[in-house]
Amino acid sequence: MNAKNDRAAWIKGPAAHCSNLPELRARPRYFVLLGAPGVGKGTQAELLSSRLGACQLSTGDIFRAAESIPECDRTPALNTALDAMKKGELVTDETVLDIIKERTTCLRCRSSLLLDGFPRTVRQAEALTKLLASERIKLDAVLSYELPIDTIVARLSGRRTCETCKAVYHVQTKPPKAQGLCDACGGRLIQREDDRPESVKVRMAAYESSTAPLADYYRKQDLLVSVPAEGSPETIYRRTEKMLEARA
Ligand code: AP5
Repeated sequence: MNAKNDRAAWIKGPAAHCSNLPELRARPRYFVLLGAPGVGKGTQAELLSSRLGACQLSTGDIFRAAESIPECDRTPALNTALDAMKKGELVTDETVLDIIKERTTCLRCRSSLLLDGFPRTVRQAEALTKLLASERIKLDAVLSYELPIDTIVARLSGRRTCETCKAVYHVQTKPPKAQGLCDACGGRLIQREDDRPESVKVRMAAYESSTAPLADYYRKQDLLVSVPAEGSPETIYRRTEKMLEARA
């Protein structure tokens, strides 16, 4: 992929057209990225998507993009979803599954895909299994990134995001060249509302009770690849690559 794919059909819905589509493949590859909030899924998804030529499908990105829709134009379900997200709670399965079903065209796009942040509950995983089967798609692997909780909290509390282009930085491990400003577009860097300590607690609890059980769900299907998420993003990427090669 040369220029970054704008993922318009995923972010805005199926009526939108993507620019700079990733390479279309005779045999696309399909991955799910699992892991606690802040473990680095989005960072790895960016590396994987640029190097595998895959599209990154993040449900969190859909909700963050929906925040810019004027409140009066949002459906009541979307307003409830955005409220839940700010507090660090999971959005209801119904809302998430409606959004995914609306975007089935993205699953049909013959580029490789990375599902980042979906599924997040066993019910969502079961629905995804059915949806993929109906499209005759098989997952290649579920990458589960794992890290001690104190390192995760440090990653989350130092994260800053560009208000304009959504590029992700970290005050210590990936600082911008000019303090508070995005290297890519000059936009203002802000802290995500759900990265504040009170929301982080709720997100970690939601992860433990609802998302952690997915590891077992996918282990039983021999799809789970547990990747230690210590080290630099590049080190983790190379680790992931090796573990995928070992399965091939
Ligand atoms: P979502 O956007 O999916 O957030 P998340 O899973 O909580 O993950 P994050 O984006 O916070 O972290 P990440 O693992 O991608 O880490 P990152 O790479 O940025 O979801 C947000 C909300 O939307 C949810 O809480 C929920 O409300 C709702 N939602 C979304 N999907 C849903 C679903 N399916 N069902 C129900 N609700 C849903 O890295 C973090 C920081 O660490 C960055 O600053 C980065 O620069 C730094 N960093 C990354 N890697 C390294 C490294 N190796 N070394 C040092 N620093 C690093």
